[in-house]
Amino acid sequence: MGDAAVREQGRPVVVCGCGYSGRAIAEHWPGPVWGTTRSEERAADLESAGIRAVQAAFAAGEPLPTLPESVAGGAAVLTMGPDRSPDVRDPHAALAEALDWLIRQGITDVVYLSSTSVYGRSRGGEVTAATPVNPEDEMGLRRVEAETLVRDRLQGRSRLSTLRLPGIYGPGRTIRQRLEAGRYRLVEGGTMFSNRIFVDDIATAVLRLLDEDVRGGIWIACDDEPFQVRDMVRFACDHLGCPMPPEVPLSSVPERIRPFWQGNRRCNADRLKALGWAPRWPSYREGLPEAWRREDEEQPPAEGER
Ligand SMILES: NC(=O)c1ccc[n+]([C@@H]2O[C@H](COP(=O)([O-])OP(=O)(O)OC[C@H]3O[C@@H](n4cnc5c(N)ncnc54)[C@H](OP(=O)(O)O)[C@@H]3O)[C@@H](O)[C@H]2O)c1
Repeated sequence: MGDAAVREQGRPVVVCGCGYSGRAIAEHWPGPVWGTTRSEERAADLESAGIRAVQAAFAAGEPLPTLPESVAGGAAVLTMGPDRSPDVRDPHAALAEALDWLIRQGITDVVYLSSTSVYGRSRGGEVTAATPVNPEDEMGLRRVEAETLVRDRLQGRSRLSTLRLPGIYGPGRTIRQRLEAGRYRLVEGGTMFSNRIFVDDIATAVLRLLDEDVRGGIWIACDDEPFQVRDMVRFACDHLGCPMPPEVPLSSVPERIRPFWQGNRRCNADRLKALGWAPRWPSYREGLPEAWRREDEEQPPAEGER
């Protein structure tokens, strides 16, 4: 997408962290949209997609920008997660500063993108938006802290929907590169359950949550079909013509990424579906080929390749 027209009419939204999901949300928003990023290059890229780019680095000791137009009474989508750098003193400092900045802009409606890691290890069980959080590792714990911070800061100031997501995928974020390069490892035989969400389905979920009739609250957006990871990997290998990757024990995986393999949960988006939302890509069987098709469209394979 390039040189898209900037949208002038309608309710404004600020996508605070216009990264992978943020950009999809911004592209789906029907009204004026601002997207923040720290990078000059990314800002130019956002502008060419009709998104008003705002360069902002939170908790970086830099002055924060003033938006050229008022967005008071408008909406915001917060996409930044806890800072996972090993030497960071406060993993939520950027989130806190971003929230204060949004409050100063007069935002009255927020969707915060969170993660199903708040549920901890579910041992193959189902989690719904009503399931109590039970973080069992650093990643889940930080995420619960972040959700609490967002809720507390916005209390009495803004409607808030917290949208918990499983693994995000879409063009540029599939396991294709790792499989084709022989870098993928199937941990513990890939027997654990998981879900995915196609990036465009996050965007439609966010748009629905920002409709007037929604009261805010906790939500899960995920595809329709929990799967065992090995089945998804086998599907991908068959399509890409790759051999199944080697199996490795959990103990061989760096500690910080073990939680991704230990969640072992089946996610249920019924609460969101009751609002009329449904994923356009109900499982990886539809979503992965769509993502690969778009990747090929953007960067066609060289002659002799797939
Ligand atoms: N990836 C997954 O599978 C997955 C699964 C469940 C939940 N989630 C969560 O869902 C959310 C969205 O994920 P995503 O993959 O779309 O995220 P992403 O592409 O990494 O985008 C995050 C955005 O936050 C901005 N940001 C981060 N720290 C910042 C700071 N200190 N100051 C200013 N901006 C900052 C980044 O800015 P720049 O543009 O400058 O980099 C980027 O635009 C995240 O919270 C993620 O943890 C992800």
